[in-house]
Amino acid sequence: MTQSHCLELKSSIASSSDPNEQTSDFLNDVLTGLSQPNKELHCKYFYDELGSQLFDQICELPEYYPTRTESSIMRADADAICQHIGEGAVLVEYGSGSSTKTRQLLDHLVDQQAYLPVDISDEHLLRTADQLRLDYPELKITPIVADFTVGFDIPAAYRDTPITVYFPGSTIGNLPPDAAVKLLTEIAKQCQLGGGLLIGFDLDKSPEKLIAAYDDSTGVTAKFNLNLLNRINRELDGNFDMENFSHVAIYNEEHTRIEIYIESCIEQTVAIGEIEIKFAEGERIFTEYSHKYSIDQFQAMAGRAGFAADAVWTDDNELFAVMHLSVK
Ligand code: TRP
Repeated sequence: MTQSHCLELKSSIASSSDPNEQTSDFLNDVLTGLSQPNKELHCKYFYDELGSQLFDQICELPEYYPTRTESSIMRADADAICQHIGEGAVLVEYGSGSSTKTRQLLDHLVDQQAYLPVDISDEHLLRTADQLRLDYPELKITPIVADFTVGFDIPAAYRDTPITVYFPGSTIGNLPPDAAVKLLTEIAKQCQLGGGLLIGFDLDKSPEKLIAAYDDSTGVTAKFNLNLLNRINRELDGNFDMENFSHVAIYNEEHTRIEIYIESCIEQTVAIGEIEIKFAEGERIFTEYSHKYSIDQFQAMAGRAGFAADAVWTDDNELFAVMHLSVK
């Protein structure tokens, strides 16, 4: 490998486009999550329209180094990265959001066949795709609205073609390692022999730097986390009072991960429609993990999923890594 410094997936599109069905999935997941002894809310629900905008603001924060660092790696090493991907790529991006980092690939890939951005936030995805079509008029762009953690179909035209999956943003770190291996295994199947994976992951580092990144001084990250409760109020007739909940980010040294929670500041009862949910003072709702890896750990994990790493790029401070892997 060159190093430069420089689940059982369902085969249907998971995210229904029927708004009523989406609401009932959201309601079921919220009520199930909040009736557990350890309350939890699924992190995929962060990304409604407002949540996606807040996440874009997080990416601009001085403390939130991952996006900026990954972008700088993509800029500095775009040529080498694109050589590893090879000519004629069909590029499928998991969790494409605003497709900002992808532009480095779209600018440098040779004879790219198509770009298929996949995201759960439909409006954001479709708007981004429209903008990209203006900027890359020659490129075939096929947006797919889907929850890639559940699985989705590659359009028939590309089903027998080796695929390069681009999975930036350290989103893989939001899954516990076992679930990450499962998802990587499914990605390896989707890529097919001859295909590859270009993935960004966050490297382990000092707890101080990590905590600052997930609990910034201006409170944008807190707003992003608490937007989950706002979203329940807006879409599911909830009555969460934001004043009575706070954002918590802790670093778990044993599992080398950031853990994000929403904490109830007082003992309180909240209604979601007709349903009442009780909170003790200090009780937490778990919302997300963000696992941090070493290059070796990540390589071993991807190896269990059927991938062989062939190159990795990092920044000078070794904050973040971008790895290219081939299907074994
Ligand atoms: N994938 C991002 C990460 O783990 C998500 C994220 C950034 C996040 N900041 C957050 C999730 C704050 C919850 C709260 O880096």
